[in-house]
Amino acid sequence: MILETERILLREMNQEDFPCLCAILQDEQTMYAYNGIFSHLETQEWLNKQLANYQRYGFGLWAVCLKDSSKMIGQCGLTWQDADGKNVLEIGYLFNRAYWHRGYAAEAARRCKRYAFEELKADKVYSIIRDINIPSINVAIRNGMYVCGRFIKKYRGVDMPHFIFCVKQDTLLN
Ligand SMILES: CC(C)(COP(=O)(O)OP(=O)(O)OC[C@H]1O[C@@H](n2cnc3c(N)ncnc32)[C@H](O)[C@@H]1OP(=O)(O)O)[C@@H](O)C(=O)NCCC(=O)NCCS
Repeated sequence: MILETERILLREMNQEDFPCLCAILQDEQTMYAYNGIFSHLETQEWLNKQLANYQRYGFGLWAVCLKDSSKMIGQCGLTWQDADGKNVLEIGYLFNRAYWHRGYAAEAARRCKRYAFEELKADKVYSIIRDINIPSINVAIRNGMYVCGRFIKKYRGVDMPHFIFCVKQDTLLN
């Protein structure tokens, strides 16, 4: 277990989480901002990338699990990402659609922000979000973030306008 909140636990993912990952990354509605679902190979590559992140940095996208049942309901965590040419520490979140609209994503994101400031001693953390992704933008706002930039990100062959959301260490609002 890496992190804990009132209702959820965050832990490292492992190969046994592959079916739960498929339920997220192979769902059309969940993946609309990513230009479509991931294949089995892309899903495995995604998992491999997180395993490599844990090894290299000690963090990555973690599994979010319900405290009650240990069920994995999503992913949330910290990764290094490019934001218009700058390497930034990003809070990312992707949840199983069956567990949307219950506040779990914002709860996990807030905990990751605290971890970034308190444990990693980060000065700022970011969330890089496609402009059409309103639910994700709302999570960033609930996480105390504001828009500090915008850029076009080429992803899976498509030019996608993105907002760069940011929060500074001294703005621990929630
Ligand atoms: C982004 C994503 C995680 C947001 O999920 P979400 O369910 O909208 O966000 P939360 O879990 O924070 O839930 C917030 C909602 O729960 C409601 N809620 C219900 N019970 C709650 C509680 N106990 N505490 C807080 N909020 C609660 C809130 O009012 C809010 O309602 P709304 O959906 O009508 O706005 C989800 O849409 C997703 O996985 N999208 C696909 C992947 C993706 O695009 N990720 C982002 C890439 S940048």
